[in-house]
Amino acid sequence: MSLYNDAESILITKEMIADRVRELGAELSRQYRDKNPLMICVLKGSVVFFSDLIRAMDIPLEIEFMAISSYGNSIRSSGEVKVVKDTDKSLENRHVILVEDIIDTGLTLSYIKNMLERRAPASLKICALLDKPDRLQVDIEADYVGFKIPNKFVIGYGLDYAQKYRNMPDVCVLNPKIYNRQP
Ligand code: PRP
Repeated sequence: MSLYNDAESILITKEMIADRVRELGAELSRQYRDKNPLMICVLKGSVVFFSDLIRAMDIPLEIEFMAISSYGNSIRSSGEVKVVKDTDKSLENRHVILVEDIIDTGLTLSYIKNMLERRAPASLKICALLDKPDRLQVDIEADYVGFKIPNKFVIGYGLDYAQKYRNMPDVCVLNPKIYNRQP
């Protein structure tokens, strides 16, 4: 059975994503030329966007991974953010770009940003594929945004519901029947 059967609609097609990722990659390449940026992927949701984004950049850069857990299997943010895996490298004096798949309430990003700022990077910018302004609970903004989206539960291109759908190439709206279903 296709994963797409659980989707209500396709919100952002893989072609739209590819175009926007190319633009973001070009912009970051221009702004970070000769800065050897340290790109941090926030697992797991960002991994698909991250791997496309770094390949859309044609400058020297380094990559690092962090794992944060905030949602569990629920669709609502618990507000509780846990660092499951930290970066291996020091951020001191580095130009850091934090790459996120989605800013929903902003709680995760706000927590990570504060934590990383204390590590004395030369600069710290945020690049998020998706931004859901209607849900924002804290005063935080990404420096680079792929798409602003409405307040719908989205899956695909790295984003999950209960760990499923991350491998769908498009960003889709999950059919509410799926998360309203009784266990
Ligand atoms: C998602 C997403 C962001 C966060 C955004 O991560 O990747 O990190 O939620 O939500 P917020 O703005 O309300 O804090 P999740 O904890 O679902 O983990 P995942 O990346 O492994 O799917």
